[in-house]
Amino acid sequence: PMFYYPLCTLMQSGVRELLLITNARDIELFRQHLGDGAFLGMRVFYAVQPFALGIADALRIGGDFVCGERCALALGDNVFFGTSHLKALKDAAADQDAMVFGIKTSDPTQYGVVEIGSDGRALSIEEKPRNPRSDLAVPGLYFYPGDACEIARNLTPSARGELEITDVNAEYLRQGRLKAIPLDAAWLDAGTFDGLLTAVTLA
Ligand code: G1P
Repeated sequence: PMFYYPLCTLMQSGVRELLLITNARDIELFRQHLGDGAFLGMRVFYAVQPFALGIADALRIGGDFVCGERCALALGDNVFFGTSHLKALKDAAADQDAMVFGIKTSDPTQYGVVEIGSDGRALSIEEKPRNPRSDLAVPGLYFYPGDACEIARNLTPSARGELEITDVNAEYLRQGRLKAIPLDAAWLDAGTFDGLLTAVTLA
């Protein structure tokens, strides 16, 4: 199943406790696959997202689970392939600041886009910009300090009606607490039919 890919990515970054968030219709299927996660050496918990309110809604739903500790957030449709990103994962998990990644893409207007300074700090981050400041797309894997859920609770919906994860990242940027690691990784966003087709063809 597709979600095994982000699950592996989280495990490779050292995560051993997972809150799997999905809609009410599908949650039992995920539960049947993973159960309590013990067979993977993990502890897996489940939560329903009642409405598709956006990625940052996961940080609101997961507030009690995260409980003010450092956490990672991974999208269920993002696939990292190969091994070139493994060191960056560990580095991001071990850092104190909010961490995103930047992957070169031919069409940054489809993604969150980050500009990275020579010291590894993010200089700008924008969601699907018309005039991107860099060609570095932000993949759906984020590492956050303990106050991420609080930041998410203060968000208001964007023009597309979603609580944007880029707005959480922009708040960390405003506070001078957002770093970004350029990644030379094979990354597939399988969140569209075309993207899924590409992923199953390549991965
Ligand atoms: C979301 C995020 C975007 C990120 C992308 C990665 O976009 O908002 O910043 O680059 O995931 O898959 P969406 O899939 O909601 O359009």
